[in-house]
This record gives sequence, C-alpha cells and structure tokens, in this order.
Amino acid sequence: MSAAQQIESVLRPAGPVAQVIAEMAWVVIIGGALVFAVVMAVLVWALARRREIPAGEERARTTWLWVVGGGFVFPVVVLSALLVYATLRTAWLTPARQPQELVITVSARLWWWEVRYHESARGIDVVLANEIHLPVGRAITLGLVSDDVIHSFWVPALAGKVDMVPGRVHQLRLEADRPGVFRGQCAEFCGEQHARMALHVVAQGPEDFERWLMLQTRPAEAPRDHQAQLGLQVFTQQRCIVCHTVRGLGTALVPGPDLTHIGSRLHLGAGTLPMGREALKEWVGHTQRVKPGVRMPSYERLDEASMQGLVVFLEKLR
Ligand code: CUA
Repeated sequence: MSAAQQIESVLRPAGPVAQVIAEMAWVVIIGGALVFAVVMAVLVWALARRREIPAGEERARTTWLWVVGGGFVFPVVVLSALLVYATLRTAWLTPARQPQELVITVSARLWWWEVRYHESARGIDVVLANEIHLPVGRAITLGLVSDDVIHSFWVPALAGKVDMVPGRVHQLRLEADRPGVFRGQCAEFCGEQHARMALHVVAQGPEDFERWLMLQTRPAEAPRDHQAQLGLQVFTQQRCIVCHTVRGLGTALVPGPDLTHIGSRLHLGAGTLPMGREALKEWVGHTQRVKPGVRMPSYERLDEASMQGLVVFLEKLR
C-alpha cells in the first residue's frame, strides 16, 4: 500500500500484458516516424531534381515506378507485415482458458465499480467497491460485466481496454510484475459522472495479498467506543443501510457500494476523494456537490455530533 501511485500511461507498463501493448505502441510510433521521414526525404529530393529528367519515355517510366512502387507495393508490404505482427502479438493477450480458483468479477455501475472475490474451495465470497487487489506475479482473469450502460475497464499500466456490456461477460487478463497502486478509469462515456469513475488496482506481495483477502472476508465488528456507536445509530436511523451493506451489521435491499471495510480503502466515491475523516464528512454531507447525479442524496441536515459519529463509525470499518 505504501508504494507511490503510478502515473497512468500505456508506455509505462507494470505487467507482462501491458508490456506487449507498450511494445506494439512503440513499433507503430517508431515505424510511423520512419515512414514519415522517408516520404519527406523523397519529397525533398523530388522537388530538388524535378527539372533534371526531360519529358519523354524515361520520365514516364520513372513516374510509373514511383507511383506503383511507393503508392501500392510499399504500403501493402508495410501494412501486411504490421498485420501479421499485431495478430501474433495480440493472440498472446487473450485470457488462457484455465480453471481458476480465485474468481474476480467487476460490475460497472453508475458511476462506480463493484468488485467480487469468489473462491468456492475456501468459501470466500466478498464484495467491495472501486478497488482491486492482486498478488504480484500471478495472472488473474477478471470477469467484466455491466449493470446499466456500456462502460469500459481500463488500467493502462496493466492491460488493454475492454468494454463492459450489459448482458455479456467479457474477460481480461491482469497481471502485475511489481507492487504498486495503479489507477484505472472508465474509458467509455457513460453519463454525467463518467470522469469520476476511477478505480485503483493494488498489487501486493502474495503474503500481503492473502492477509488483505482474509481481512476482507471478516464481517464488520460492532463499534466499541461511544462515538462510533452513535455513528451506527445514525447509520440505521438515516436508512443508509437500505443501500449499503455492512456485513455483520446489516444487508442492503438496494445494491449500493458495500461498506464493510470502507475504512481500509484508498478512496471515496470511485477515486473522487482520498479516504479520511474530512473526506467522509465532505462526501456524506455534500454528496451531490462533490459528485452531482449519483444515487446518494446529500445529508446536509445532520447535526455536527451525528455527523462526527457517523464519520468515526465509517472510518473504523477497516
Ligand atoms: Cu463508466 Cu464512463
């Protein structure tokens, strides 16, 4: 978790899949630049010597050679080579059809991501939001689905872009080769808050990952101190529980983000605010100002003590 957040860039890959994409990007960029340089050089050369060849049969032949060679043969050769190269390289990106123990499903919502970890052998079935943790060096195939409109899952440092289409399950291979926090973003316009639909992928060593996963499987503990107890009361009275599950304390009727371990997450509101008491206060009190259009109303009328209790309660859900 301590690793600094990386800049989102296709050209700074942090895993083998992204490595292939970055390599292909460089081939196209450098190849395109070379072709452009050659064309410009030929153009300058042609302009400089345009009067040297007198009109006649020789000139007609030279012209024909350049038009057919440069305008047909050259592009066909270059584009065919590129097609073969790209086909072979992208075949490698397709998820391997191996049965996996750990299944991670990401469902896109307006405008956040529900993440589910499921492993039947150990009876693991946990739901969280806007954050995916991965063990470094292990290839994981994600199942990507959408609940409403088309979204697009994109973590540039780790993999390519894959659309999430309602009614379909798309797969994406994700693998990180070093620890770090990698920001992802919805890459398909999906409405008012498309720009605030980020997610974070946390790549950790296998032991740290296992510890994190075990922590996530635990239900929330009942609050012990007075302030957090008041917070739980407010949480129930204000009907937060209708949309937000806190495992161990209550199950939602409407599927909003699961808050069982919200205090352990890096951000609030799908990457909108960094996690912390002040941010929680800002979010709960002014939801519609921070992220207009989301399904959660602003709780502007909560008195100071109730708000403080609620924020303490939420922050302790770790
Ligand atoms: Cu979801 Cu754009």
